[in-house]
Amino acid sequence: MQTTQEGEKAAIRVAITGAAGNIGYALLWRIASGDCFGNNQPVILQLLEIPPGMQRLDGVIMELRDSAFPLVHDIIGTDDPEVAFSDADAIFLVGSRPRTKDMDRADLVAANGPIFVGQGKAIDAVASPNVKVITVGNPCNTNALIASANAASIPSRQFTAMTRLDQNRAVGQIAEQARVPASKVEDVFIWGNHSNTMYPDPRFARVGNESVTDLFDNEWLQGAFLDTVATRGKAIIVARGASSAASAASAAVDHMRDWWQGSNGRIVSMALPSEGWYGVPEGLVFSFPCRCEGGEINVVEDLPIDEFAQTKIDENVKALLEERDAVSELL
Ligand code: NAD
Ligand code: LMR
Repeated sequence: MQTTQEGEKAAIRVAITGAAGNIGYALLWRIASGDCFGNNQPVILQLLEIPPGMQRLDGVIMELRDSAFPLVHDIIGTDDPEVAFSDADAIFLVGSRPRTKDMDRADLVAANGPIFVGQGKAIDAVASPNVKVITVGNPCNTNALIASANAASIPSRQFTAMTRLDQNRAVGQIAEQARVPASKVEDVFIWGNHSNTMYPDPRFARVGNESVTDLFDNEWLQGAFLDTVATRGKAIIVARGASSAASAASAAVDHMRDWWQGSNGRIVSMALPSEGWYGVPEGLVFSFPCRCEGGEINVVEDLPIDEFAQTKIDENVKALLEERDAVSELL
């Protein structure tokens, strides 16, 4: 039971699946230190693993306790989703298999999709009705769709998927090319699926006061820049022998922090179930330009779409409809 000293916020419950995995190992320390929910917001960490991961999870929990984070009020480790998601205010759905270098992310849907049926049902049964869910496990857009479809009592807008890593990669590429720190790059964002079809849209992006489209030509923006961002996951797997982990954890923190605390007027990329925005079929979990305020995600609805952007949006709709068809029995 939590005790609340005068002036101290009540602890929130944060569930993380796959907590003993590579992303989990980077993510837990960021959440525990206050980077995500604020440095005055205590947390209770509710960590889920599958039985073969429980011994590793015990070790992770020992290390978390040894880090003596003031904001961590309790740590629960379990292999039961209904324990992990109990009254959860925020959930990071990470636990699932990463691809190997010979696979596309969509190839994981058969192995990982079923995980999100049971976890969706458990979220429906026991999580806070206001829970905010980010799906990281791949293919993350379609896994978020599966989880949401199995959690009928929770509004589908509360289920999101992570394209922030792709946005951060786009920022990194522009910053490197312009030889400025990443903090100077604003309002580049991602349309569509966390897959090779994604569209990192530079048309509204700025480096300081300069427009990115004035600084760089279309040959780079629609060529090497786009390809590097869209295929960065594979490049990391080839170079590192393992899929991105620290950068993925950092992006998950960015996504949930902005949702929880607001994006301060900045445009950020989040995949969420379409309400028909930009002609994207209703229900598809699609990455849109968003602003966050007061715990809500608001899609930026009035951006002009040129021919290239429309082609890329259409390509992503097609890919996501195919993924949705492939998992129709899980929805
Ligand atoms: P990992 O193999 O290191 O860790 C995954 C962990 O999940 C393991 O400890 C495993 O035991 C656990 N697990 C498996 N099934 C589970 C289940 N049903 N419930 C709870 N836990 C379960 O993998 P990782 O590097 O941490 O990557 C995790 C996932 O995140 C992969 O699917 C990967 O492709 C994806 N990913 C997504 C992005 C993105 O931008 N959306 C970025 C990087 C990685
Ligand atoms: C990434 O983008 O790094 C992850 O989705 C891992 C992958 O399979 O590409």
